[in-house]
Amino acid sequence: MATAANSRIRLASGHEIPRLGFGVYKTPPEDSYRCCLEAFQASYRHIDSAAAYKNEAGCGSAIRDSKIPREEIFFTSKVINISYDGAKETIDQTLTLTGLDYVDLMLLHKPMGGSENRKGAWKALVEAVEAGKVRSIGVSNYGVHHLEELQQHMRELQAERGGKNKGGTLSVNQVELHPWLARKELVDWCENNGIALQAYSPIVRGARFEEPYLQTLAKKYDKTPAQILIRWSLDKGFIPLPKSVTPDRIKANAQVFDFELTPSEVQELETEEYSPSPVDIHAFANTHARSSYQHTALHTGNADAGLLPLGRKSRLYMYYIQETDLEPAGTRMSEMTLTEPQLLRASALKDRLIRQAMCSAYARLPANSQSVLRGIKLCIAMSMAVFVSR
Ligand SMILES: NC(=O)c1ccc[n+]([C@@H]2O[C@H](COP(=O)([O-])OP(=O)(O)OC[C@H]3O[C@@H](n4cnc5c(N)ncnc54)[C@H](OP(=O)(O)O)[C@@H]3O)[C@@H](O)[C@H]2O)c1
Repeated sequence: MATAANSRIRLASGHEIPRLGFGVYKTPPEDSYRCCLEAFQASYRHIDSAAAYKNEAGCGSAIRDSKIPREEIFFTSKVINISYDGAKETIDQTLTLTGLDYVDLMLLHKPMGGSENRKGAWKALVEAVEAGKVRSIGVSNYGVHHLEELQQHMRELQAERGGKNKGGTLSVNQVELHPWLARKELVDWCENNGIALQAYSPIVRGARFEEPYLQTLAKKYDKTPAQILIRWSLDKGFIPLPKSVTPDRIKANAQVFDFELTPSEVQELETEEYSPSPVDIHAFANTHARSSYQHTALHTGNADAGLLPLGRKSRLYMYYIQETDLEPAGTRMSEMTLTEPQLLRASALKDRLIRQAMCSAYARLPANSQSVLRGIKLCIAMSMAVFVSR
């Protein structure tokens, strides 16, 4: 049944989380205070920030100034520096910046840093819960293989630290989820293991609003495509985190509790087609234009890709961010140097060809890690071929 925006579900930690969250990725630090207050007015009670977003201070001030009782608001942040010391430091910094007594949910932002650092960062989260600094803990951008590794870490920590629950409780995995990236295998795994799924980029950053079936549903329910996508996420049992800095959109995106999609509409909206998601395009199309390091965890959470500016030349590279069954962390899979004219052409090309290359490569990405790696290699080979051939 449709529920109110601030209705909640219980996490594995025993704490409750509001069904709808408000994302603030790319919300400028100077806007986060206003946006969070507008979100509260529009009935959201759940803010999703991160140390990397550099806007936690504004979120914290808005929570403190909102006059809403603290226990009614749910605040999430994320650790980007994945190591024991990095996580400890980030948690303290988040508390200082926000002025909050505790963080409701602290996530490891990405499965980076290698197995030992991931275990250390998790241990720091577990200690923060025990110290009362954080209530629930989880991860983000974790694939099934990362989650299985974390379960093993939790068992090891429990044995090392001696006692029940000393390995921590995994409450949440936050990943990109929408009808064009429904990730059945990962979703099933999380659901079977009692891990709540937070859906990031739930409205696909607006990239799919023209899809005919989405338009049909929007007309049928007299809702916007964004509202249909947020409702799809809720009807799938996810916790969507739509982001906006625009007052009308902030309000409209929360008006999704007066209708629901039928099970067959939920099913039909979901596609098995793969095409590049905003995160891919962000990483591959804008790297040179932004002339700075960009990256993505891709859909596998296995690799990192980007364009690294090196003076007048740049290198397109891709390397593993975690050990795999094939190669150790940090191994460069492929690398090439681009000359300045190539770079200029690559930059001018941007979207179309790279999108095609990513698309063809991802279409071949199946589930197990060996074939995922082959898919990634194919993907980078195709992207490079595009760069070089122009
Ligand atoms: N854990 C992670 O690695 C990770 C990665 C990405 C995102 N996230 C979280 O998930 C949140 C949401 O993801 P996202 O920001 O990538 O994408 P999103 O919520 O799917 O889309 C946000 C974009 O859509 C626009 N928009 C919002 N409402 C709209 C509407 N009703 N009509 C038309 N356009 C609309 C926004 O523009 P305006 O702001 O200009 O209105 C913004 O450009 C983030 O803010 C962040 O909290 C987490």
